[in-house]
Amino acid sequence: MNRWTVMVSVLVLGISLLAAGAPRYVDGIDAAFPPFSYIDKRGEAAGFDVDVVRWIAAEMGFEVGIVPVDWDAIIPTLLSGNIDLIASGMTITEARKERVAFTDPYWSVNLAVVVREETGDDGERSPQLNVVTAIQPGRRIGVQRGTTAQDWIEENVIGAGISVKLVLYDNFLLSLEDLAIGRIDASVMDEPTARSSIAGRAMTVVGTIETGEIYGYAVRQGDTELLQLLNEGLRRIRSTPIWDGLIEKWLVGQ
Ligand code: ARG
Repeated sequence: MNRWTVMVSVLVLGISLLAAGAPRYVDGIDAAFPPFSYIDKRGEAAGFDVDVVRWIAAEMGFEVGIVPVDWDAIIPTLLSGNIDLIASGMTITEARKERVAFTDPYWSVNLAVVVREETGDDGERSPQLNVVTAIQPGRRIGVQRGTTAQDWIEENVIGAGISVKLVLYDNFLLSLEDLAIGRIDASVMDEPTARSSIAGRAMTVVGTIETGEIYGYAVRQGDTELLQLLNEGLRRIRSTPIWDGLIEKWLVGQ
């Protein structure tokens, strides 16, 4: 064999090994949903869900690519086949269950109401607001478009005749930017995300709304192979100390 033949055979071997190798799935994440999923300063995917999915992939023998997707397009992107799973702090809801299949639950959250931290004339921090006073008629409330926070305000506030002005954002970090400059009066989002994102800002959580939402990973209905891999992976990681380590790293003390 001459040199070229050897090179070509090595190349062909490499390609067939790849083809026969581990299945590869693409995980779509919202790039701005700390501490569950985000793109960090170096441009790398990071967060609790990212670590969990990477661990499960290594454990269960599949490759995983992680790509950012706009949150309000994330289910259509899954259904169109451009991504294979969503691991990004998604609440399991009846409406979503009609379109996607969820893994077993892995975490549970409530909603938090975030406002600017006001400082009184005496220089004392004076958090006069609570959940009820922060969400009064006429107030501008920001939420991320397509979230359970939007649903909750629409059903339980606007639906109850309390005429707040609901302002929708592509991601909830943008709502915090607007809150900081006074364009909205409060922002409502999942509590762990609120706590990790207001750190270092003049903002505070005035209270929580006990929605008791349950997170799961989503796949296409009928993709039972991937669903089983994820469920088995979740079962395994939860039986190792790595699970508690990740909770400690990302979710405790936020
Ligand atoms: N848990 C809420 C929901 O499922 C908010 C999720 C927002 N997640 C995200 N990655 N932006 O609607």
